[in-house]
Amino acid sequence: MAKKKSLLDLIEMKRRGERVTWLTAYDAPTASLAEAAGLDMLLVGDSLGMCMMGLPGTVPVTMKECLHHTRAVRTGAPNTFVIGDMPFLSYQTSRRDAVRNAGRFYKEAGADAIKLEGGVRVAPQIRAIADAGMVVFGHIGLTPQSSGQLGGFKAQGRTIPAARATLQDALAVQEAGAHCLLVEAVSPEVTALIHKHLTIPVYSIGAGAAADGQLLIVSDMLGIFQAFTPRFVKRYANLADEIKRAFGEYCVEVRSGAFPGPEHVYRMVEGEAEKLDELEREFWPD
Ligand code: KIV
Repeated sequence: MAKKKSLLDLIEMKRRGERVTWLTAYDAPTASLAEAAGLDMLLVGDSLGMCMMGLPGTVPVTMKECLHHTRAVRTGAPNTFVIGDMPFLSYQTSRRDAVRNAGRFYKEAGADAIKLEGGVRVAPQIRAIADAGMVVFGHIGLTPQSSGQLGGFKAQGRTIPAARATLQDALAVQEAGAHCLLVEAVSPEVTALIHKHLTIPVYSIGAGAAADGQLLIVSDMLGIFQAFTPRFVKRYANLADEIKRAFGEYCVEVRSGAFPGPEHVYRMVEGEAEKLDELEREFWPD
């Protein structure tokens, strides 16, 4: 079994030019499969609101829900670097809230790091969490918690003014003491500049190949999430069809009596079934 990665391993992988493999996970069985497949990191994203709870976005997701799922992933993947995702209003309100809530991911859910969205405007919170001794991942570009301000789930950094704002965010995150940066749905040319000039590891989700590793949402890449598929997603499986096929076959077999078969039951100990008539009369004499 591969050794669990640490922040130092991530830094060393960047130095060696080795790309980090990163997926989201929300439950123990999926996390366990990801660990068995050798994933370097797992993010318990607040995307769980959409992928697990059927919500239209991430804004309604609570600390309680994030902690619950992070704990499940920690249990399923004890030897994988797990990042907890700070939900909307768990850190924007103050540095104190940010440190307290980040600490809960460590103390109550066993996370190895936390991630929070935003650049310049959350720099004080990043500094406070890092000063408290935690590993901090920044997240810039398309930040789903502020998708209302961004006009929806839209690609970022596509014009020079937008690129300038994205670069300012990237620098602010690094200067505030974040240990790693995730760039989402930013034009690859801009991501390449960030990757070239920042010293911390820079990861991409839908922001091109010039990065120290890639992240995908597990429900997208497995073809489970049905509502929409962003352009940057590559589907490595189409589990929705396979799941629907299995559910349909189960319904057919239950209705026809084909399931359960003799191989799916626990028969009585040898010689005991013969005495059932006597037991039946004891309960129902007439
Ligand atoms: O919640 C999440 O999964 C995320 C990714 C979209 C980066 O933050």
